Amino acid sequence: MQRGKFITLEGGEGVGKSTQIRRLVASLTDRGLDVVATREPGGSPGAESIRDLVLRGAADRWSPVTETLLMYASRRDHIERVIAPALAAGRWVVCDRYADSTRAYQGAAGGVDPAFIADLETHVLEDVRPDLTLILDLDPRTGLARAVDRAGAEMRFESKGEAFHVRLRQAFLDIAAREPARCAVIAADGTLDEVEAQVWSAIQARLNG
Ligand code: TMP
Repeated sequence: MQRGKFITLEGGEGVGKSTQIRRLVASLTDRGLDVVATREPGGSPGAESIRDLVLRGAADRWSPVTETLLMYASRRDHIERVIAPALAAGRWVVCDRYADSTRAYQGAAGGVDPAFIADLETHVLEDVRPDLTLILDLDPRTGLARAVDRAGAEMRFESKGEAFHVRLRQAFLDIAAREPARCAVIAADGTLDEVEAQVWSAIQARLNG
């Protein structure tokens, strides 16, 4: 059985990941692929419980290091129970956020030592690394206005202030610049159809989808 492909979507708040994931999953399914759509933090029952802890409450409820550990606890459960079994069964996995979000939010924007995060990647992710990461890039002022409109109770990160979100955008662009073979930057300020077209051409160019 050939391992399935692992695709992650990343970016700041309100960049339009959910809509693009729905469209991407529909396009891959139309082509006969067996696709699992999932998200982080969350994606398995245990990881969803951790999501509730980490995304709700006051902005200073958890320190950046504690957040990192909670994200990695939830990620390990998600990998063990959902992502690794699906890939081993030849299914494609499309995940809304993954390890790059920890590098950007807790690392670059939150000040956690990148070497500590790299160690967690080595020991927790092991070989469960994305084949392709799509980084949706948008001016944080546009993204935040959209995200705050629909955030509900999960407000901890939206409420962190504009400077945090500017650092975040740069962090994702830096990841893409360091790992160009894995990452494609998608300009997310176009219409939904324009963004979808960019996503699809990245899939075809990188994964022969
Ligand atoms: P979402 O709004 O895209 O569902 O993402 C949930 C929030 O969790 C978002 O504000 C980013 C944050 N997050 C981190 O801070 N670190 C992580 O590792 C992940 C996966 C998400």
